Amino acid sequence: MNDKRKRIGILTSGGDCPGLNAVIHAVVKAAESKNWEVYGLPYGTDGFQYIAQKKCSRKELEKFRLTEQCYELPGKIRGVDVLQFFSGSILGSISKGHPEDPNVKKEILEGYKKLELDALIAIGGDGSLKIIYDLAQEGRWNLIAIPKTIDNDVPLTEFCVGFTTAVEVVTQALYDLTFTAASHDRIIIVEVMGRDAGHLALHGGIAGGADIILIPELTPHLSLDVLHGCCEKLSNLQQCSRHFGLVVIAEGVKNQHKEKEDRIGDYLKREIQEYSGFLHHENHPEFGPLKDMDMRVTVLGHLQRSHPPVAWDRLLATAFGVRAIKLIEEGQYDKLVVWKKGGVEVEPLSKVIKTIKESHENKQCPCPSPVEKDDCMVKTARSLGIYLGDSNKDLGSSSSFSCSCRN
Ligand code: F6P
Repeated sequence: MNDKRKRIGILTSGGDCPGLNAVIHAVVKAAESKNWEVYGLPYGTDGFQYIAQKKCSRKELEKFRLTEQCYELPGKIRGVDVLQFFSGSILGSISKGHPEDPNVKKEILEGYKKLELDALIAIGGDGSLKIIYDLAQEGRWNLIAIPKTIDNDVPLTEFCVGFTTAVEVVTQALYDLTFTAASHDRIIIVEVMGRDAGHLALHGGIAGGADIILIPELTPHLSLDVLHGCCEKLSNLQQCSRHFGLVVIAEGVKNQHKEKEDRIGDYLKREIQEYSGFLHHENHPEFGPLKDMDMRVTVLGHLQRSHPPVAWDRLLATAFGVRAIKLIEEGQYDKLVVWKKGGVEVEPLSKVIKTIKESHENKQCPCPSPVEKDDCMVKTARSLGIYLGDSNKDLGSSSSFSCSCRN
């Protein structure tokens, strides 16, 4: 153990999410209790580049210090006291690709050296952690990583910071939409985030009472089978006198041609309308009411990222931040702090990054931590009768279906 007063850097990278400030809050408090100094890098690794470009003096570098006294509110509430309640990142974040330009890389490495850090805490998702890991290897940085993303797809952790709050947003949205859907006998399709992963759609969909949940892991694209299953499910609801329906679709689900749509929810709506009309026309009168039903699409978008962190995300963020400081105290670097089986654990970053890199190279499944087919929540959804886009047994005459969206 080393008793020297340490200088710790902290940055947030990749898309923001609820709970980033709660990690910063915990790191500052835990570090200050040891009389260590924390430096906050603005806009991820761009902060290092800035330091190098501006040739910051030692005095200027002090401007990056994060202290308990950052600012004061009435009654002596200090900035750091309330930080954990806010979403976003006080440091700012970037979500751009690898610093391919050798000059950019050189400046980032130079800036890191100039700060004379003992260690860096990087809060990131799969993409940004991969980039920072490579930089850390090159610059021999002492790196500790903390997983964050509403997609919950960083490998080897059960929870990433931000996920639970986003699930809450989806759940609340479905609850809110239930009443307007029911009042107008409508089907509402809710498009949620999740570039390659369906954790958010699956958890939010179950908790919010969805009838159909479509996620990339189980429904990579909207095949005719899936469309048929959706129409059957929605039609069955009506036959059981339920005159509204809630459908959740993750943005990562592709169209019938296996291509990404800007608005997959709108695409699904058109498909359901046209396909139910086709079925009705092809002598399936039971699909008549569905074809005439009103449908609307709600895209939740960045609301899922900007909600104040719920209690669990603050707890997780705080426990992760405190553990990161402990690891630095013990001189244990190149670690990802994770949540496993009810507690905070650590995993070697090399192992995590290997999984991320392999998955990114896999065109079929680019997600480093996908929803598994036997996931407990997949089984739960099935037991509730939620349609998850499974292949449909008998398409009958419907397989000759072709409509404008399918051409
Ligand atoms: O990775 C998190 C995420 O929110 C994805 O779910 C989404 O596809 C992406 O970020 C959106 O990124 P941006 O804010 O750059 O549009």
